Amino acid sequence: RIGQRMLFAFDPERAHGLSIQALKCGLLPASRAFTDSRLQVNLAGLDFPNPLGMAAGYDKNAEVPDALLRLGFGFAEVGTVTPLPQSGNPRPRIFRLESDGAVINRLGFNNQGHEAAEARLKARSNPNGIVGVNIGANKDSADRIADYELGVKRFTKLASYLTVNISSPNTPGLRNMQSREHLSELLARVMIARDQQAKGGKVVPVFLKIAPDLSETELDDIAAELVDKRVEGLIVSNTTIARQNLRTTAHAGEAGGLSGKPLFGRSTAVLARMRKRLGSDFPIIGVGGVDSAESALEKIRAGADIVQLYTGLIYGGPRLPRRIVAGLSETVERSGADSIRSFRDERLAHWLAQPLD
Ligand code: FNR
Repeated sequence: RIGQRMLFAFDPERAHGLSIQALKCGLLPASRAFTDSRLQVNLAGLDFPNPLGMAAGYDKNAEVPDALLRLGFGFAEVGTVTPLPQSGNPRPRIFRLESDGAVINRLGFNNQGHEAAEARLKARSNPNGIVGVNIGANKDSADRIADYELGVKRFTKLASYLTVNISSPNTPGLRNMQSREHLSELLARVMIARDQQAKGGKVVPVFLKIAPDLSETELDDIAAELVDKRVEGLIVSNTTIARQNLRTTAHAGEAGGLSGKPLFGRSTAVLARMRKRLGSDFPIIGVGGVDSAESALEKIRAGADIVQLYTGLIYGGPRLPRRIVAGLSETVERSGADSIRSFRDERLAHWLAQPLD
């Protein structure tokens, strides 16, 4: 708590850097391993020890995936990484909307590039645990799809899964890749690159990460392409460019993607729609506004197999993952269910009835 208060005295980007340093030095609570076999989820061929993951964007350069797992997360997603290093947008570019439990960021894929992330992932002393790599395109790339192919080639052997991120609002034009024509070519080329890499070895599952700001027709198109190209899974969602459900007016006008509590409703409504379109067996990761065991469970009830968070950690601190996992375990215990899976889709109808705007 004290550490958390101190971090809030710094500007958000500095606080983020300090928290990464703290994790690197082992300063943060490495709590005892908490295991509950009823929380295990098998998805896309992976055995997740529990359904709570660290979302992309926190550990952009793959500096601390194992420290994140030690906080109690069942999996960690590093990145977004782009082929070449890039500095992103000018600062300030992260804003806390404290009374909303929200953040606006317009970082713009600041990261050290493929080579640096690859070196760190190769150097992991104990490469156990599920670590996904989230891949993206450089802002100035002449062929953005080629950047994703490079990501697949570079990280297939090091990643538990790959996330194709075309939903950041902070790289101009990136979200256009969600349109059917572009998505079709992108996914075709990504899946070919993946299959080429897999020859003789393990097949790394590919997940697509989408924005919450999509219409019903766009969701139809994306679902059709996911099935057509045999993509293994979907992540719903990235940050929103909408500014609904905000109490704070300070910073609300900043450009960028909004995350945290105010994103929960929209991202969950989109998640439910994709569950309905893709059917019961399609792997879906729910993200957006998860900050407690209750909100994690609600995502699962809306159709998520497993969930991720980022902004919740900024407000809830490093003990939050363990608290959420313990809370999920208690819920399963109380209900007498034999697995967390039994909660899935319980409130799908409710979330389908929520309007998208
Ligand atoms: C993000 N997010 C993100 N997503 C992604 O795919 N690649 C990235 O590089 C980033 N970067 C990033 C930076 C910051 C500061 C934030 C707050 C978020 C989006 C993130 O993974 C997640 O999808 C959303 O933030 C919604 O989840 P939360 O934060 O509401 O739990």
